[in-house]
Amino acid sequence: MSEYACEALTKKHNRKDFDCGVEVLNDYLVRFASQDVKRKVAAVFVFVPSDEPKRVVGYYTLCATSVELSGLPDDAAKRLPRYPQVPGILIGRLARDLGHPGLGRLLLADALSRCIRSAEDIAAAVVVVDAKDKTAANFYERFGFISLPKMKSRLFLPMETVGKLYPA
Ligand SMILES: CC(C)(COP(=O)(O)OP(=O)(O)OC[C@H]1O[C@@H](n2cnc3c(N)ncnc32)[C@H](O)[C@@H]1OP(=O)(O)O)[C@@H](O)C(=O)NCCC(=O)NCCS
Repeated sequence: MSEYACEALTKKHNRKDFDCGVEVLNDYLVRFASQDVKRKVAAVFVFVPSDEPKRVVGYYTLCATSVELSGLPDDAAKRLPRYPQVPGILIGRLARDLGHPGLGRLLLADALSRCIRSAEDIAAAVVVVDAKDKTAANFYERFGFISLPKMKSRLFLPMETVGKLYPA
């Protein structure tokens, strides 16, 4: 049996003990995540240990976004039709509890497979992430994400590439 389950955030989840070491991301989970879900601003998915199913030890958020075609690097842009905007899915936040090292890659893999599945129903040509600092950007680059030339804190991965990594 898997060590963790991934679920949509609900009231049953205990998030106040979550500590990823970044106050703004801890605070988001406690104070804003449920409101964002309710208002359809973000979908929030949490990882819970199988033996402690109410305790949040990792989370990520997803929402629809778009990027300007002119903001993508040339080699990515030329593979897309010449519409001004390209539809995408934004992984807005992604964090794991300090006591669960190694969960980062599982969170990202889960988020990316969810992006692929969602893009079958509502098309999205890119997955976009917001990296809060250089360390976070390094983490995403480790998995192939590429910085947008005009906005280094925002990185993307073509959905085509994600589909090869996580076939539906
Ligand atoms: C970023 C974060 C999710 C990484 O989680 P993690 O559990 O340490 O990640 P993993 O151990 O699964 O790492 C997967 C790979 O990424 C690498 N990695 C982890 N953090 C990295 C970083 N900051 N820079 C470069 N590579 C990194 C690991 O070495 C590992 O590589 P390997 O497969 O070659 O060994 C975690 O540190 C975290 O929650 N940080 C606070 C919140 C945050 O900064 N989120 C980023 C988005 S806003």
